Amino acid sequence: MATSLMDRSLVLEFARVTEAAAINCAHWIGKGEKNSADGAAVEAMRKMFDTVAIDGTVVIGEGEMDEAPMLYIGEKVGKGGVEVDIAVDPLEGTNLTAKNMNGAIAVMAIAKKGGLLHAPDMYMDKIVVGPKAKGAIDINKTPKENMESVAKALGKDPSDLTIVLLDRERHQHIVKAARELGASCKFISDGDVSPVIATSFGTEGIDMMMGKGGAPEGVIAAAAIKCMGGDMQGRLVPENDEEVKRVHDMGIDDVNKVLTLDDLVSTDDVCFIATGVTKGDMLNGVRFTDKHAITHTVVMRGVTGTVRFIEAYHDYEKKPSYVKIK
Ligand code: FBP
Repeated sequence: MATSLMDRSLVLEFARVTEAAAINCAHWIGKGEKNSADGAAVEAMRKMFDTVAIDGTVVIGEGEMDEAPMLYIGEKVGKGGVEVDIAVDPLEGTNLTAKNMNGAIAVMAIAKKGGLLHAPDMYMDKIVVGPKAKGAIDINKTPKENMESVAKALGKDPSDLTIVLLDRERHQHIVKAARELGASCKFISDGDVSPVIATSFGTEGIDMMMGKGGAPEGVIAAAAIKCMGGDMQGRLVPENDEEVKRVHDMGIDDVNKVLTLDDLVSTDDVCFIATGVTKGDMLNGVRFTDKHAITHTVVMRGVTGTVRFIEAYHDYEKKPSYVKIK
């Protein structure tokens, strides 16, 4: 087993960070104000980082320094300690939160310095499978070819596959391929990080995730796939000259470059942490009782591959003010 720069007890500290973000923005569930929800998550996450013994640099965050007051790209977080790079999405699923729909999470990935692709805020084409189908995907091939190859690796008939994808017009070619093979499609309205991870849990009947979503979310999800031993490929989809320039500025000359799982996350010394905001398939949402805010968090470590679920009861009276919302 490889060694980790990040002490395993740090993972619990990381869980506190996404827990704080989730609790703070849960206040906004169903209120129709996605920016306020996002702001509440960002603020709590930023504050909680001050208590964690890391020397962290945000490499994927809320935007460039001039456009985001907190958790901007390049911002230093932590009270000092091991040097790490951090990809944050304080609220993944702002619309889901605003509308009180399933699947919003507070999420981040933390890796040894240099371990995460500094993905710009643009689209990424993604194809993801669980451990048993590792090596069976090729983003340069057609959706149908990939489905057939994955079905073969899983020892299934293609008609027994379930593919999860964002319900978008741009994914019609994927749906068409699935229909031709008789495979099943599970559509999601927003928030593709959790569905990507479902491919590797193998408990929700999801065999593949395909389609275009956010590139930052792609890297964060790749951290979980790395921890769980699944497989993923991505390709950035710059949509104008400025986005093409951003890809070039990252040192990627060929905008069509296939990003393998190792390109997305180049180290096993990586952790993935997510806390449910609204109820979802992977995590329960934040619940409030008279005395507690109850959170449900998943933490994963790449070096050991351990996936741990933590249910926490946060006492309103004894918690710092930023999680005391009642
Ligand atoms: P938010 O930034 O509003 O949380 O949305 C996130 C998300 O749903 C991602 O999970 C997904 O990758 C992307 O947006 C999809 O983008 P689009 O809505 O433009 O298809």
